[in-house]
Amino acid sequence: MNQEQLKHQVAAAALQLIPPDEVLGVGTGSTVNALIDLLHQQRIPLPACVSSSQATSKRLQDYGYEVVDLNSSGPLNMYIDGADECDPYRRLIKGGGGALTREKIIAAASRRFVCIIDVSKQVDILGAFPLPVEVIPMARSHIARELVKLGGEPVWRDGFVTDNGNWILDVHRLSIVDPVGLERQINQLTGVVTVGLFAARAADTVLIASPDGVVEL
Ligand code: 5RP
Repeated sequence: MNQEQLKHQVAAAALQLIPPDEVLGVGTGSTVNALIDLLHQQRIPLPACVSSSQATSKRLQDYGYEVVDLNSSGPLNMYIDGADECDPYRRLIKGGGGALTREKIIAAASRRFVCIIDVSKQVDILGAFPLPVEVIPMARSHIARELVKLGGEPVWRDGFVTDNGNWILDVHRLSIVDPVGLERQINQLTGVVTVGLFAARAADTVLIASPDGVVEL
């Protein structure tokens, strides 16, 4: 079974959890794209969605789903999104697709955050995947120096601009033994918009697809 099939499998499992008649929070990435395609193929009705990126909004709207602003939807019951890494405590690294800030906002505003991944994203300790940090452009070099002091090797995602008009530093070589502490530390650096550590607010449910099927963490 290849990775595309695993993504499809975990997306299909998540579909079963979606509460009827409620606005759904929808994340960003190829796993979520598989979910959106299934929503359309199976004609799942949704009153509206709140989306974590322009790319997701476009995909949803192309299928005829209404996308509304989080300010008008109010709190959400469910948010479904992928991740780049997940540890045994459902703490995540996200932001490989650069949508981390809106993803974190929607996760914060949702009662239940369901994360959908394939088994390749499961790790014991976060940090093998470079940690994305969204920064205000003028603060890029300053933040990069601060991240070096924390033991990382930041690399500017050159040419990439987030939906919020900011830049991303991908921080390599971090072994993240205290995800909540590091999230707090990086959040406090002036010029940081968001760090892609989802530890203080981890996922509530993680669905993991492997060739043996989908399991819940
Ligand atoms: C985007 C994200 C994605 O959830 C993460 O990158 C996983 O993407 P994919 O499902 O394509 O592997 O955080 O900012």
